[in-house]
Amino acid sequence: MDILRWENNGLLLLDQTRLPDAAEYCRCGHYRQVARAIKELQVRGAPAIGIAAAFGYALAAVNFTAEDRSLEQFLAQAAQELRETRPTAINLAWALDRMAELYQTVKHAGLDQVREALLNGAERLLADQKEQDQRIGAVGSQVVPERAELLTYCNTGALATAGTGTALGVISYAHRAGKQIHVYVPETRPLLQGARLTAWELEQAGIPCTLITDNMAGYLFAQGLVDLVIVGADRIVTNGDFANKIGTYGLAVLADHHHRPFFVAAPASTFDFSLRAGGEIPVEMRAPEEVRTFRGHPVAGDGIRVLNPSFDVTPHHLVSGYITEAGILQPPFDERVFTENMGERS
Ligand code: MRU
Repeated sequence: MDILRWENNGLLLLDQTRLPDAAEYCRCGHYRQVARAIKELQVRGAPAIGIAAAFGYALAAVNFTAEDRSLEQFLAQAAQELRETRPTAINLAWALDRMAELYQTVKHAGLDQVREALLNGAERLLADQKEQDQRIGAVGSQVVPERAELLTYCNTGALATAGTGTALGVISYAHRAGKQIHVYVPETRPLLQGARLTAWELEQAGIPCTLITDNMAGYLFAQGLVDLVIVGADRIVTNGDFANKIGTYGLAVLADHHHRPFFVAAPASTFDFSLRAGGEIPVEMRAPEEVRTFRGHPVAGDGIRVLNPSFDVTPHHLVSGYITEAGILQPPFDERVFTENMGERS
């Protein structure tokens, strides 16, 4: 099932807010609808929002009419609106930068050719992501023992990348390779990406899994029930600190305390070489209603004060290794690690 695809001059998105109750697509015919879909998590997961934003940029060229300012200004405005939807995952800004660079190389062509080039550019980012996911799966599978109890977090599967996934891609690769694995899936409050999306994807792939509430992870470690943790990332900075779904830091501390390996799986587009340490990563704050409610039902009074950071930052010393398409890496990171191992980042 495609999580996004271009159809009839618009972007179709599998609406992830409706899963697993309904598998329905929403259609974006304007780039502002793509921006709203990203903000409202109809499409989510760091690589997937980057690719959706790239298609949103291509869609802006389709939306452009002669009454607007110049195409260049219109695209710059679209890129800014798309970029501001979610501040933590660097893949979003990365994909938009690639699209803006592409525009610079074709801007003197006719409008139809520019539109075609931008659409091809977005399709290329999608194809690249699929390839990178395959490599991440193969590389990461090496750290998974023949028999293992795994723990992952949030959702890092096909739904999060539009390919085969990062951390969940490693897990499914290991399963397909015949390893006897079982996966613990914390539900991932407040929006339940673990319960609604990861458990659903694992079940569809026939991978044995057990759903837990987030506060049960400590119990599992104390009982010796977890051999290995693999998570995804929204931004990894030069010293190896990384942002991921709120709650990841606590899992890393637990893994460290119980001497269990803790791996991060992510493509090159998740690395931000412009920041030195995790404290510099902007953390998205989301609406209080997400915490005051559970799947739309109130669980606390309207007036209760709420804190809702969508991500936390895990320090590098808690990470055993970074599973990427260029191999299993150790910090400090710079661009060369990908250019040397993979050729150009794209
Ligand atoms: O708020 P979300 O659902 O977009 O958060 C997603 C995560 O935190 C994922 O773990 C991360 O993006 C890695 S996706 C391969």
